Amino acid sequence: MSQTIVDRGLEGVVVGQTELSNVDGEAGRLTYRGYDIHDLAPHAGFEEICYLMLFGQLPNKYQLADLNVRLTANRMLPQPLIDWMQSMPRDAWPMDVLRTMISGLALFVPYMEEGAHASNPRAAIHLIAKTPSIVAAWDRIRRDLDPIDPLPNLSTAANFLYMRSGEIPIKAAERALDAYLVLLADHSYNASTFAGRVTASTRADIFAAATSAIATLEGDLHGGAPGKVMKMILDIGKPERAEAYVRELLARGERIMGMGHREYKVRDPRAQHLETMARELGEASDPKWYEIARALEDAANKVLHEEKPGKRIYANVEFYTAPTLYSLGIPADEFTCMFACGRMAGWTAHILEQLADNRLIRPQATYTGPPVMPFTPIDQRGRNGKNGNDVSSLLGSA
Ligand code: ACO
Repeated sequence: MSQTIVDRGLEGVVVGQTELSNVDGEAGRLTYRGYDIHDLAPHAGFEEICYLMLFGQLPNKYQLADLNVRLTANRMLPQPLIDWMQSMPRDAWPMDVLRTMISGLALFVPYMEEGAHASNPRAAIHLIAKTPSIVAAWDRIRRDLDPIDPLPNLSTAANFLYMRSGEIPIKAAERALDAYLVLLADHSYNASTFAGRVTASTRADIFAAATSAIATLEGDLHGGAPGKVMKMILDIGKPERAEAYVRELLARGERIMGMGHREYKVRDPRAQHLETMARELGEASDPKWYEIARALEDAANKVLHEEKPGKRIYANVEFYTAPTLYSLGIPADEFTCMFACGRMAGWTAHILEQLADNRLIRPQATYTGPPVMPFTPIDQRGRNGKNGNDVSSLLGSA
């Protein structure tokens, strides 16, 4: 009998093509349409990356101005969406709200045909522009404050900070958040992008596919890690305690959040930019968070090298995201939402790329259940399994 090879986690399996970004995990290199993020992060703004993702090239200043007009025109949220958020429990997790609202945006866009919205760059701009507006609106609503309308002359990053606080941010804060959004904009076939492409491959529209992508981002093996990195930093409290903390964590069989990556076998290239930002923002306010993060990375490298030799586990993008965003005044439970603000550029571009040359994505699984069995009518079935007829005991105490 031939043996089927099961690729759990699809590690190393190539399931498609993309022109949008490339990850070289051995060299530690990330490019967007051929441009190295080491060139893009310090020199290009998030809106330029959106243009690059959606239209295939870096914009000239007229093209960028045109895109900015369109982003500005799309930033305002429909009032019913704000009313809806106002009705939500104030302790709702920000990612639950954002995921619901991204899906909800579809309700305010006309249908092209039965049940389907147009999936095109116009819809992508709509999603990219509104995602930060939703995050900022919920940030205020849950603090019992009214949402603030975006300003027409501010960038995506500056507008987000303005819509949270009501104050136009200083240049250093705007620049740091802008570079963060650039660094998070795309990452080839990561789990959330792949989920978006799978959904798009059924010819579901861009709102459905973006909702799949954002739902897949949430877990801490993906975009849910940075809030937990911040929790570690806060728990550690001072740099000298980092090593003992790491040893205790691993002794309990837990993972160090923000460390390790399926693709990168070296330090994530985005980490160096985020580390610089975390350090610079810390120098301007409170250096403590950066200093603990730095000690934590050193301790994690040392202890993981001892405990898991040869595994090549290094800091990923989420590690210095935590002190960077925290230093910008963004609470830890909103970090994954910030990831979504940047990644919406990549998700929508991938969804459109999938639709432009589509084939249904439908893999197989090896069946491990019982063999084919004769059907027994319900009144002839006896006591089933060790738990008998008691559903409560099957459900357990949860
Ligand atoms: N801490 C401790 N051990 C780790 C870590 C970590 N952060 N990461 C991997 N390992 C260990 C595993 O325990 C495992 O060891 P074992 O073989 O002794 O059991 C080995 O390395 C391989 O782990 P896998 O889960 O098979 O590797 P995978 O390629 O799936 O890991 C992942 C990638 C999920 C990101 C992992 O490194 C991890 O859990 N990191 C922590 C969470 C995190 O930072 N998530 C954000 C990732 S970046 C992003 O998605 C944007």
